[in-house]
Amino acid sequence: MKTYCVTGGAGFIGSHVCRRLLEEGHRVINIDNFSEFYDYRLKVANVLRGAGLSAGFDWKDREQDLRRLETMVNERQYRLCIADIRDPHALDALFQSEQVDGIIHLAALAGVRPSIENPLLYEEVNVRGTMNLLEAMRRHGIRKWVCASSSSVYGNHPDSPCSESEAVDKPISPYAATKKACEEMGFTYHHLYGIDVAMLRFFTVYGPGQRPDLAINKFIRLIESGDEVTLYGDGSTSRDYTYIDDTVNGIIRALAYVEQHEQVYEIVNLGTGGTVSLHTMVKTIEEGLGKRARLKAMPEQVGDVNHTMANIAKAAELFGYAPKISFADGIRKYINWYRGVMQ
Ligand SMILES: NC(=O)c1ccc[n+]([C@@H]2O[C@H](COP(=O)([O-])OP(=O)(O)OC[C@H]3O[C@@H](n4cnc5c(N)ncnc54)[C@H](O)[C@@H]3O)[C@@H](O)[C@H]2O)c1
Repeated sequence: MKTYCVTGGAGFIGSHVCRRLLEEGHRVINIDNFSEFYDYRLKVANVLRGAGLSAGFDWKDREQDLRRLETMVNERQYRLCIADIRDPHALDALFQSEQVDGIIHLAALAGVRPSIENPLLYEEVNVRGTMNLLEAMRRHGIRKWVCASSSSVYGNHPDSPCSESEAVDKPISPYAATKKACEEMGFTYHHLYGIDVAMLRFFTVYGPGQRPDLAINKFIRLIESGDEVTLYGDGSTSRDYTYIDDTVNGIIRALAYVEQHEQVYEIVNLGTGGTVSLHTMVKTIEEGLGKRARLKAMPEQVGDVNHTMANIAKAAELFGYAPKISFADGIRKYINWYRGVMQ
C-alpha cells in the first residue's frame, strides 16, 4: 500500500482518481479547498462517491457540512484535508505529518471563459498554487508528480491531431496560459530538484460528476428538462471528448510510469484520438435521452478554441494508454448515471 496525495480530489476528475486509488488498495490524501467555482454540494457528493461511501447526507450549511464530511470520510483509508494550495503553511503541516509517495495535482480553477473575467485569480490559484506545491515537494523530498495540463495549451489549432512536440506558445485564454506556465515550472523543478514529472494534457473529459459548467453536463440537464440550449457558433466546432474512465486509466498509468522511472519529465496527451462536432454531440445526447433539443444559436465565444483532437501515440508508447469508450457509449453511461441520481 502506498500513500498518494490528490489535489483537487473533491472535483470531477479528482474524485474518480481517489476512488480508483482506494480500489487499488492505496491510502489517499485529498487536498481541496472546495473552491466556489461551483456548488460545494456537488463536491461533497464527489467526495462521498470518491471515498466509496453511498450514505445519504443531511445538508445544513457549508461549514457544518464540510466538517461532517471530514469526520465521515476520515475514518477510512482516506484523509480529507480542506486546505488551499495557495497556503504554504497548510502544505508544510500536511507533509510534515504524512509520508507521501507521489502527488497527482489536479486542483485548479478550470474553465476558459471565467478566466477571461478573472485572470489574476486564475494566475494566483493555478500558477502560484502550483508553485507552492512544487516548493512543498522540494522541502519534503517528494519526487513523483503527475500534473493536470490541458488541450487548451494548443490554442487555435487546425482540425488535425495535436502532438506534444508542437510549439505551444499562443494560448488564447488566461486559463490556457496558466496551464502552459505549470508545464514550464514543472520542468524547472524537474531540472533543479530531480522531481519526476508526467504533465498530462487532458482533452475535454466527461462522465458522472462532470463539472456543471461543461457543455455535455449542461446540455444533458437542459434537454432532459425541456429547457432551451444555447449553441455557440455554427455547430462545426469539435472536441476530442474523453470518457472519465479512460482519463483515469491514463492518470494511473502515468503515475506508475513516473514511479518506475528516474529523471523523467514528459508531456503527454490524454484524449481519444477522435473528434466530435458540436452538432454530433447534441444529436448523440438527443438520441441517448430520447428527446429533441430546443436550440438557440449564438455567436462563437471568445477564448474558446475551435477544434481539439489528440495524437495519443506518445501515451500509448510510454505507458500503454488505450482509451476504450466510444462517444455514444460514454454518453449512454453518463445519461444512465444522471437519471439514476436525479430519480
Ligand atoms: N475536465 C476537463 O475536461 C479538463 C480538461 C483539461 C484540463 N483539466 C484540468 O484537470 C483538473 C481537474 O479538472 P476538473 O474538471 O476535475 O475540475 P474541478 O473544478 O471539478 O476540480 C478542481 C478541484 O480543485 C479544487 N481547487 C480549486 N482551487 C483550489 C485551491 N486554491 N486549493 C485547493 N483546491 C482547489 C476545487 O475545489 C475542485 O474540487 C484541473 O486542473 C483542470 O484544469 C480538466
